[in-house]
Amino acid sequence: MSAPRARALLQVSELSKTFGGLEAVSDVSFEVREGQIKALIGPNGAGKTTIFNLLTSVLPADAGSAQYDGHELLRLPTYRVAALGIGRTFQTSLLFDQMTVLENVMVGHHLHGHTNMITAALRIFGASAEEREYRELAMDALGNAGLADLAGRPASELPIGQRRLVEVARALASEPRLLLMDEPAAGLNMRETERMGEIIQQTREGGVTVLLVEHDMSLVMSISDEILVLDGGRRLAEGPPEQIRNDERVLAAYLGEEALD
Ligand SMILES: Nc1ncnc2c1ncn2[C@@H]1O[C@H](COP(=O)(O)OP(=O)(O)O)[C@@H](O)[C@H]1O
Ligand SMILES: [Mg+2]
Repeated sequence: MSAPRARALLQVSELSKTFGGLEAVSDVSFEVREGQIKALIGPNGAGKTTIFNLLTSVLPADAGSAQYDGHELLRLPTYRVAALGIGRTFQTSLLFDQMTVLENVMVGHHLHGHTNMITAALRIFGASAEEREYRELAMDALGNAGLADLAGRPASELPIGQRRLVEVARALASEPRLLLMDEPAAGLNMRETERMGEIIQQTREGGVTVLLVEHDMSLVMSISDEILVLDGGRRLAEGPPEQIRNDERVLAAYLGEEALD
């Protein structure tokens, strides 16, 4: 467990976003303290991915603020958010199938300060001393995820469990200080989910703060320091796993979805 009184690395205040008439995120406030694994959970459509899109300026917020290490994230373009040390993994797999595993992870370094993943992917082919350094860092990230043996394989050959881990390695290769993870265990079997949990904990031990959106409740309950529950775009509850697991409102929100254990 991280120190409960560490300072806030990310402070989100009164964040709101509507799509047409739909209030996808409504007046949501929370903080993520340095060194935490904080989970953001809620039924499908609760607004979790939208919050990540707002924090990374993929979508403009209607209202609110997100203070990160002295910067207002909501006013920054996406590449600047990445350059500040905020990494992200996506709900749907985003590997370049034609590239090798190593090249996919190298894209992570190029994201630092560059506009988008496609530009970053193209830059990999401009070989340089810088590229050699990226290659080493990418190999380190793959090694930490136990994937070094797969470095030269085309990403298209990997099963989902390994694709998910490569995506995490790619995000870590950009050396983030805060990592936003959107359902990293989606599509994984129980054993792969446990492995993902170990990688997330190892990531935090390496000094990275984690904001985790995840549907797998056993994973969330076992590795999170604190959980924020959203329902219909609104904040429903917040607290440590023991408290959230027994919260009547949370159980009601999840009725028909799955058990919280
Ligand atoms: N770009 C978008 N345009 C219109 N509606 C969207 C968009 N993104 C999300 N939504 C809607 O906002 C709500 C919250 O979606 P989302 O944040 O993806 O939920 P979650 O990730 O918690 O499942 C859903 O009703 C979804 O359909
Ligand atoms: Mg989502």
